Amino acid sequence: MPPTIRLLEAPDFDNGFLATLANLSPVGLTPAEAERIWHLRKQAGVHTIVAEADGRIIGTASLILEQKFIHQGGSVGHIEDVAVHPDAGGHGIGSALVDHLTGLARERGCYKVILSCLDRLVPFYERLGFRRHDSGMRIDLKAV
Ligand SMILES: CC(C)(COP(=O)(O)OP(=O)(O)OC[C@H]1O[C@@H](n2cnc3c(N)ncnc32)[C@H](O)[C@@H]1OP(=O)(O)O)[C@@H](O)C(=O)NCCC(=O)NCCS
Repeated sequence: MPPTIRLLEAPDFDNGFLATLANLSPVGLTPAEAERIWHLRKQAGVHTIVAEADGRIIGTASLILEQKFIHQGGSVGHIEDVAVHPDAGGHGIGSALVDHLTGLARERGCYKVILSCLDRLVPFYERLGFRRHDSGMRIDLKAV
């Protein structure tokens, strides 16, 4: 059965969500700590979705909507933290999550969606309709 894609819910913190996200970067949170942060993220308007298959979370991605002054106050969608559980890669789940968030940004009236990724993932995003644009820049302010 294809995975269900839906918004993150509280029981997901004990059901594969943190292990899935750890495929992107170490998380370092207990399920309870992650749940507290989830509430703060929701208040800040971050949409976190998950892919669920056979009762387990196997994928996640987030969308942040930003209203600009430029472009007559138009909105931009930022896709962040796309991750698929290491046991579930290569089955289209990452693609389905990114497509879902692009669709959500379109529904919310965004004029574009942007994200940054490693060079090796450029073909993955190009297959989903994205094109290379600009350069990502970073300054590290704390060791994490
Ligand atoms: C990138 C990621 C989300 C893809 O998820 P997925 O469900 O495997 O993706 P799909 O099945 O939809 O697409 C598979 C394609 O992803 C790309 N891909 C996946 N992992 C890759 C990697 N390590 N290097 C390069 N390309 C990769 C390939 O193009 C692959 O196509 P192929 O199977 O024909 O080789 C997943 O591998 C992951 O969680 N990686 C670790 C976290 C990460 O890097 N997230 C992206 C942040 S921008």
